Amino acid sequence: MIKKILIGLLVILIAIQFIKPERNLSGDTQKDIATIYPMPDSVKIVFDKACADCHSNKTNYPWYASIQPVAFWLNDHVKDGKRHFNLNEFAGYRIGKQNKKLEECIEQIKEGEMPLSSYTIIHKEAVLTDAEKTLIINWCQNIVDTIHAKYPADSLKLQRQQKPGQAK
Ligand code: HEC
Repeated sequence: MIKKILIGLLVILIAIQFIKPERNLSGDTQKDIATIYPMPDSVKIVFDKACADCHSNKTNYPWYASIQPVAFWLNDHVKDGKRHFNLNEFAGYRIGKQNKKLEECIEQIKEGEMPLSSYTIIHKEAVLTDAEKTLIINWCQNIVDTIHAKYPADSLKLQRQQKPGQAK
């Protein structure tokens, strides 16, 4: 009985190797955040190493990303991460959403929620030092301040016009 179950599992494991989720490799940066908010290299380096794999149009896939079920799991993170916040699509967001996402960035970094801990276990270089956290937080805060100075608070309110299940 146990042997049959094990063989069954093995067959499933082999079968799912043939399922290849579409990869996040377009690399389209036409609407990149840096096209509207100038980004110093020091800031870009941190976003690139700690956030871009899940929050841009181009993921650097490690070798084990080809192995199932790891590929499913990584793909899920990338899809979910991009849907919430995409550095390469940021210029296409309405101003209220830009404001909200930058505020969330600050919050997520302050609370140590991002980068995801399941990511930093392997990507040790993505663990942010205090100096890197401050750098990103200040950069985001500066833009938030600029937005608040330029747009009345009312215009920054997000209308609940998205369909259920879409990014906040
Ligand atoms: C391994 C993938 C991964 C990495 C790396 C990562 N994120 Fe995320 N991020 C996600 C996922 C998945 C979500 C959506 C689900 C959630 O909030 O946990 C998310 C959500 C977010 C959100 C939106 C929160 C919301 O409520 O809409 C922000 C902002 C964010 N991440 C910022 C960052 C920043 C900044 C970094 C780098 C310092 C980073 N993330 C690194 C996967 C990642």
